[in-house]
Amino acid sequence: MHEPVKGDKNLVIDFHSHILPGIDDGSKSVEESIQMLTASREQGVDCVVLTPHFYAGRWNPEDFFESRNSAFEVLSNASVGLGIKLVVGAEVEYFEGITAMEELREMRISGSSAVMIEMPFRPWSRRVIRDITEIAGRRNYSVILAHIERYIDYQDDSVIEELINAGVIMQANANSFSGFFKSQKCIKLLKSGLVHIIGSDCHNMTVRPPNLRSALNMIEKKCGGAVLQNVICTGNLILFGE
Ligand SMILES: [Fe+2]
Repeated sequence: MHEPVKGDKNLVIDFHSHILPGIDDGSKSVEESIQMLTASREQGVDCVVLTPHFYAGRWNPEDFFESRNSAFEVLSNASVGLGIKLVVGAEVEYFEGITAMEELREMRISGSSAVMIEMPFRPWSRRVIRDITEIAGRRNYSVILAHIERYIDYQDDSVIEELINAGVIMQANANSFSGFFKSQKCIKLLKSGLVHIIGSDCHNMTVRPPNLRSALNMIEKKCGGAVLQNVICTGNLILFGE
C-alpha cells in the first residue's frame, strides 16, 4: 500500500465528508463519526474536511452555524488521540442569490479561502456560471465544485475550461475511482487537469463509508506517483497555503 511521505505540506486530505454528527444526512451520532474517522485514519488520511450540506431553502445560516459549530466542538473533543486533523466547512448548494449571501464567508473551509459548492444537476445557465466566477474572483475567496464528475456530462467543455481558467477547483469523489472501467472517466479528467482534488463524500459506515484509500491507490496505479503527489500537494496548498 502506498504511504505518502509525511511532511507539513504533505497531508493526505479528504476534502468532502459528512462525518459531522447529527447535522445532515451523514453521521447520525458521535459514535458513528468516530468509527468513520478511525476508518479514515486506517486508510492513511491525515486530515478530514467536514462539509455538512447547507441548503438555503432549509437552513437559516445562523442556525446552521450554531448547529455545525457545536457538533464540531463535540467531535473535536471526542476524537482527541485519533491522530487526525479536522477542519470545518460546508457543502453549499448553489442557489440564485448565493452571491448576495454575506454568510458565505463563514462557510469557507476554516483557515482557507475555499468554499465548496454543490452545483445543479443540469446544464448550467450563464447566470450560474457568472455567479461562480464572481465568487471565485473575490479577494480571499476560492471555489471548489463538489464531485464535478457527477455533472460534467451536462456541460460543454468550454464551460469547464472557463471555470478552471477563473481559478475554480474541481473535486471528484473517491467512489468514482473504484473499479477498472468505472474509474476511466475520472482518471481521464485527472490526467486532463479537469480534476484537482478528491474527497470521499462519506455519509456513514454502511453504504457510503470512508473510501479515500481506494482512490489514492487507483490514481497511483493508473497515473503514477507524481500525479498522486500533485493531488496531495494541491490539497495542502488550498488548505494551508503551503
Ligand atoms: Fe456531499
